[in-house]
Amino acid sequence: MAGIILGVESTAHTLSIGMVRDNGELLPSESSIFTPEQGGIHPREAADHHSLMAPELISRVLSRNDFSVSDIKAVSFSQGPGLGPCLRVGASLARTLSKSWRVPLVGVNHCVAHIEVGRNQTGCDDPVLLYASGGNTQVIARAGSRYRVLGETLDIGIGNMLDKFARSHDLPFPGGPKIENLASQWETDEGGDPQNLELPYAVHGMDLAFSGILTAAISLSEREGINAASWSLQEHSFASCIEVAERALAHTGKSELLLGGGVACNSRLREMAEIMCSERGASAHWPDKQYCVDNGTMIAELGRREIEMGRETKLEDSAINPILRTDSTPITWS
Ligand code: ATP
Ligand code: FE2
Repeated sequence: MAGIILGVESTAHTLSIGMVRDNGELLPSESSIFTPEQGGIHPREAADHHSLMAPELISRVLSRNDFSVSDIKAVSFSQGPGLGPCLRVGASLARTLSKSWRVPLVGVNHCVAHIEVGRNQTGCDDPVLLYASGGNTQVIARAGSRYRVLGETLDIGIGNMLDKFARSHDLPFPGGPKIENLASQWETDEGGDPQNLELPYAVHGMDLAFSGILTAAISLSEREGINAASWSLQEHSFASCIEVAERALAHTGKSELLLGGGVACNSRLREMAEIMCSERGASAHWPDKQYCVDNGTMIAELGRREIEMGRETKLEDSAINPILRTDSTPITWS
C-alpha cells in the first residue's frame, strides 16, 4: 500500500483535510465551510469555525477506510496567502499532527496548489492557468522555475464580486452557483436579444477589474430583473477573463488552458474556455468541482511534490504568510 500525504487547507472560509497517495492518487477531502448569516466573511469568526470543526474533520478522516495512521508520510498545510487568523488554525493543526505522528511538515503555497491539483487530475503539462476564485483572479504561466502572474485583478476577485452581487439580493454565500442558476433560467425563459443588458468590461492590458461591473450590475438588476442581470454579469466578467487568458496563450506560445479556483466550477466559464481554445487549436482543462474549490487534497498534492524533491518545513520556519505571492515559490518538481 502506498504511503499517504495529508494536507490541511484553511486560507479563508473553508477548513478542509485531504489526502494523496505517494503514487499521486488523489483522495477526496473532508471539508467544512463557514457561511456567515449576513455580510461578508469576518476572519476571526471564520477562524473560530475552523477551530471548532477541526476535531470533527480529523475524526472523519481517521474513520475512513482509505486512511491508516501508519501510512502517513508527511503533513502539509497552506502557509499562505490568506486570512491570518484562518491560516493560523490550519498551521497549528498541521504542526500538531506532524509532531504527534512523527512525520515531516511541509508548508505550501495555496495558489500553486490550485495549479498542481489541476495538472494531476487533467494530465495537462505546461498550461496557462486561469485561477478564478473568491479572493484571487490571476492568469499564470510557468517561466523557468516560477509560476509567473501575467495578469490579475486590480481590485476584487471575480468570485468575491459574484458573492457581493448575490448578497445585494439577499442570496447567501456562495453566490456564484446561485447566479449561474439564475443566468441559465434567464436563457431558458427569455434568451434572445440582449441589447439592453450591456455592462462595463474592464480589461487593462493583461489585468482585470470587477468593482465597476458589480455596481453597474446591481443597477441593471433593478431595471431588468436579477435573472437578466446575472446572465449579463457572467457573460461580461467571464469574457474579460477569457480574453486575458487567450492573450497569455498567444504571448507564451503554450497550448493548454487550465481552469482553477471556485469560479472554475461554472459551466458557462468552462464553455467559453473550450470555445476560445478550440478556435486557436489549444485545449481547455479543469479538475472536478471538488478540486476547483478550496480543498485539502490540493494541499496534500503540492506537499507530495515538494516532499519528493526533499523539501521539509522546520518548525521555526512554519509561520504563516498571509501575503505569499504565486511567484515567490520556486518550482523544483518537474
Ligand atoms: P482563494 O483563497 O483561492 O481566493 P476562495 O477562498 O475564494 O479561494 P474557492 O473555494 O476557491 O475559495 O472559491 C469560492 C468562490 O467560488 C466563491 O466566490 C463562489 O461564489 C465561487 N463559485 C463556486 N461555485 C461557482 C459557480 N458555479 N459559478 C461561479 N462561481 C462559483
Ligand atoms: Fe483557493
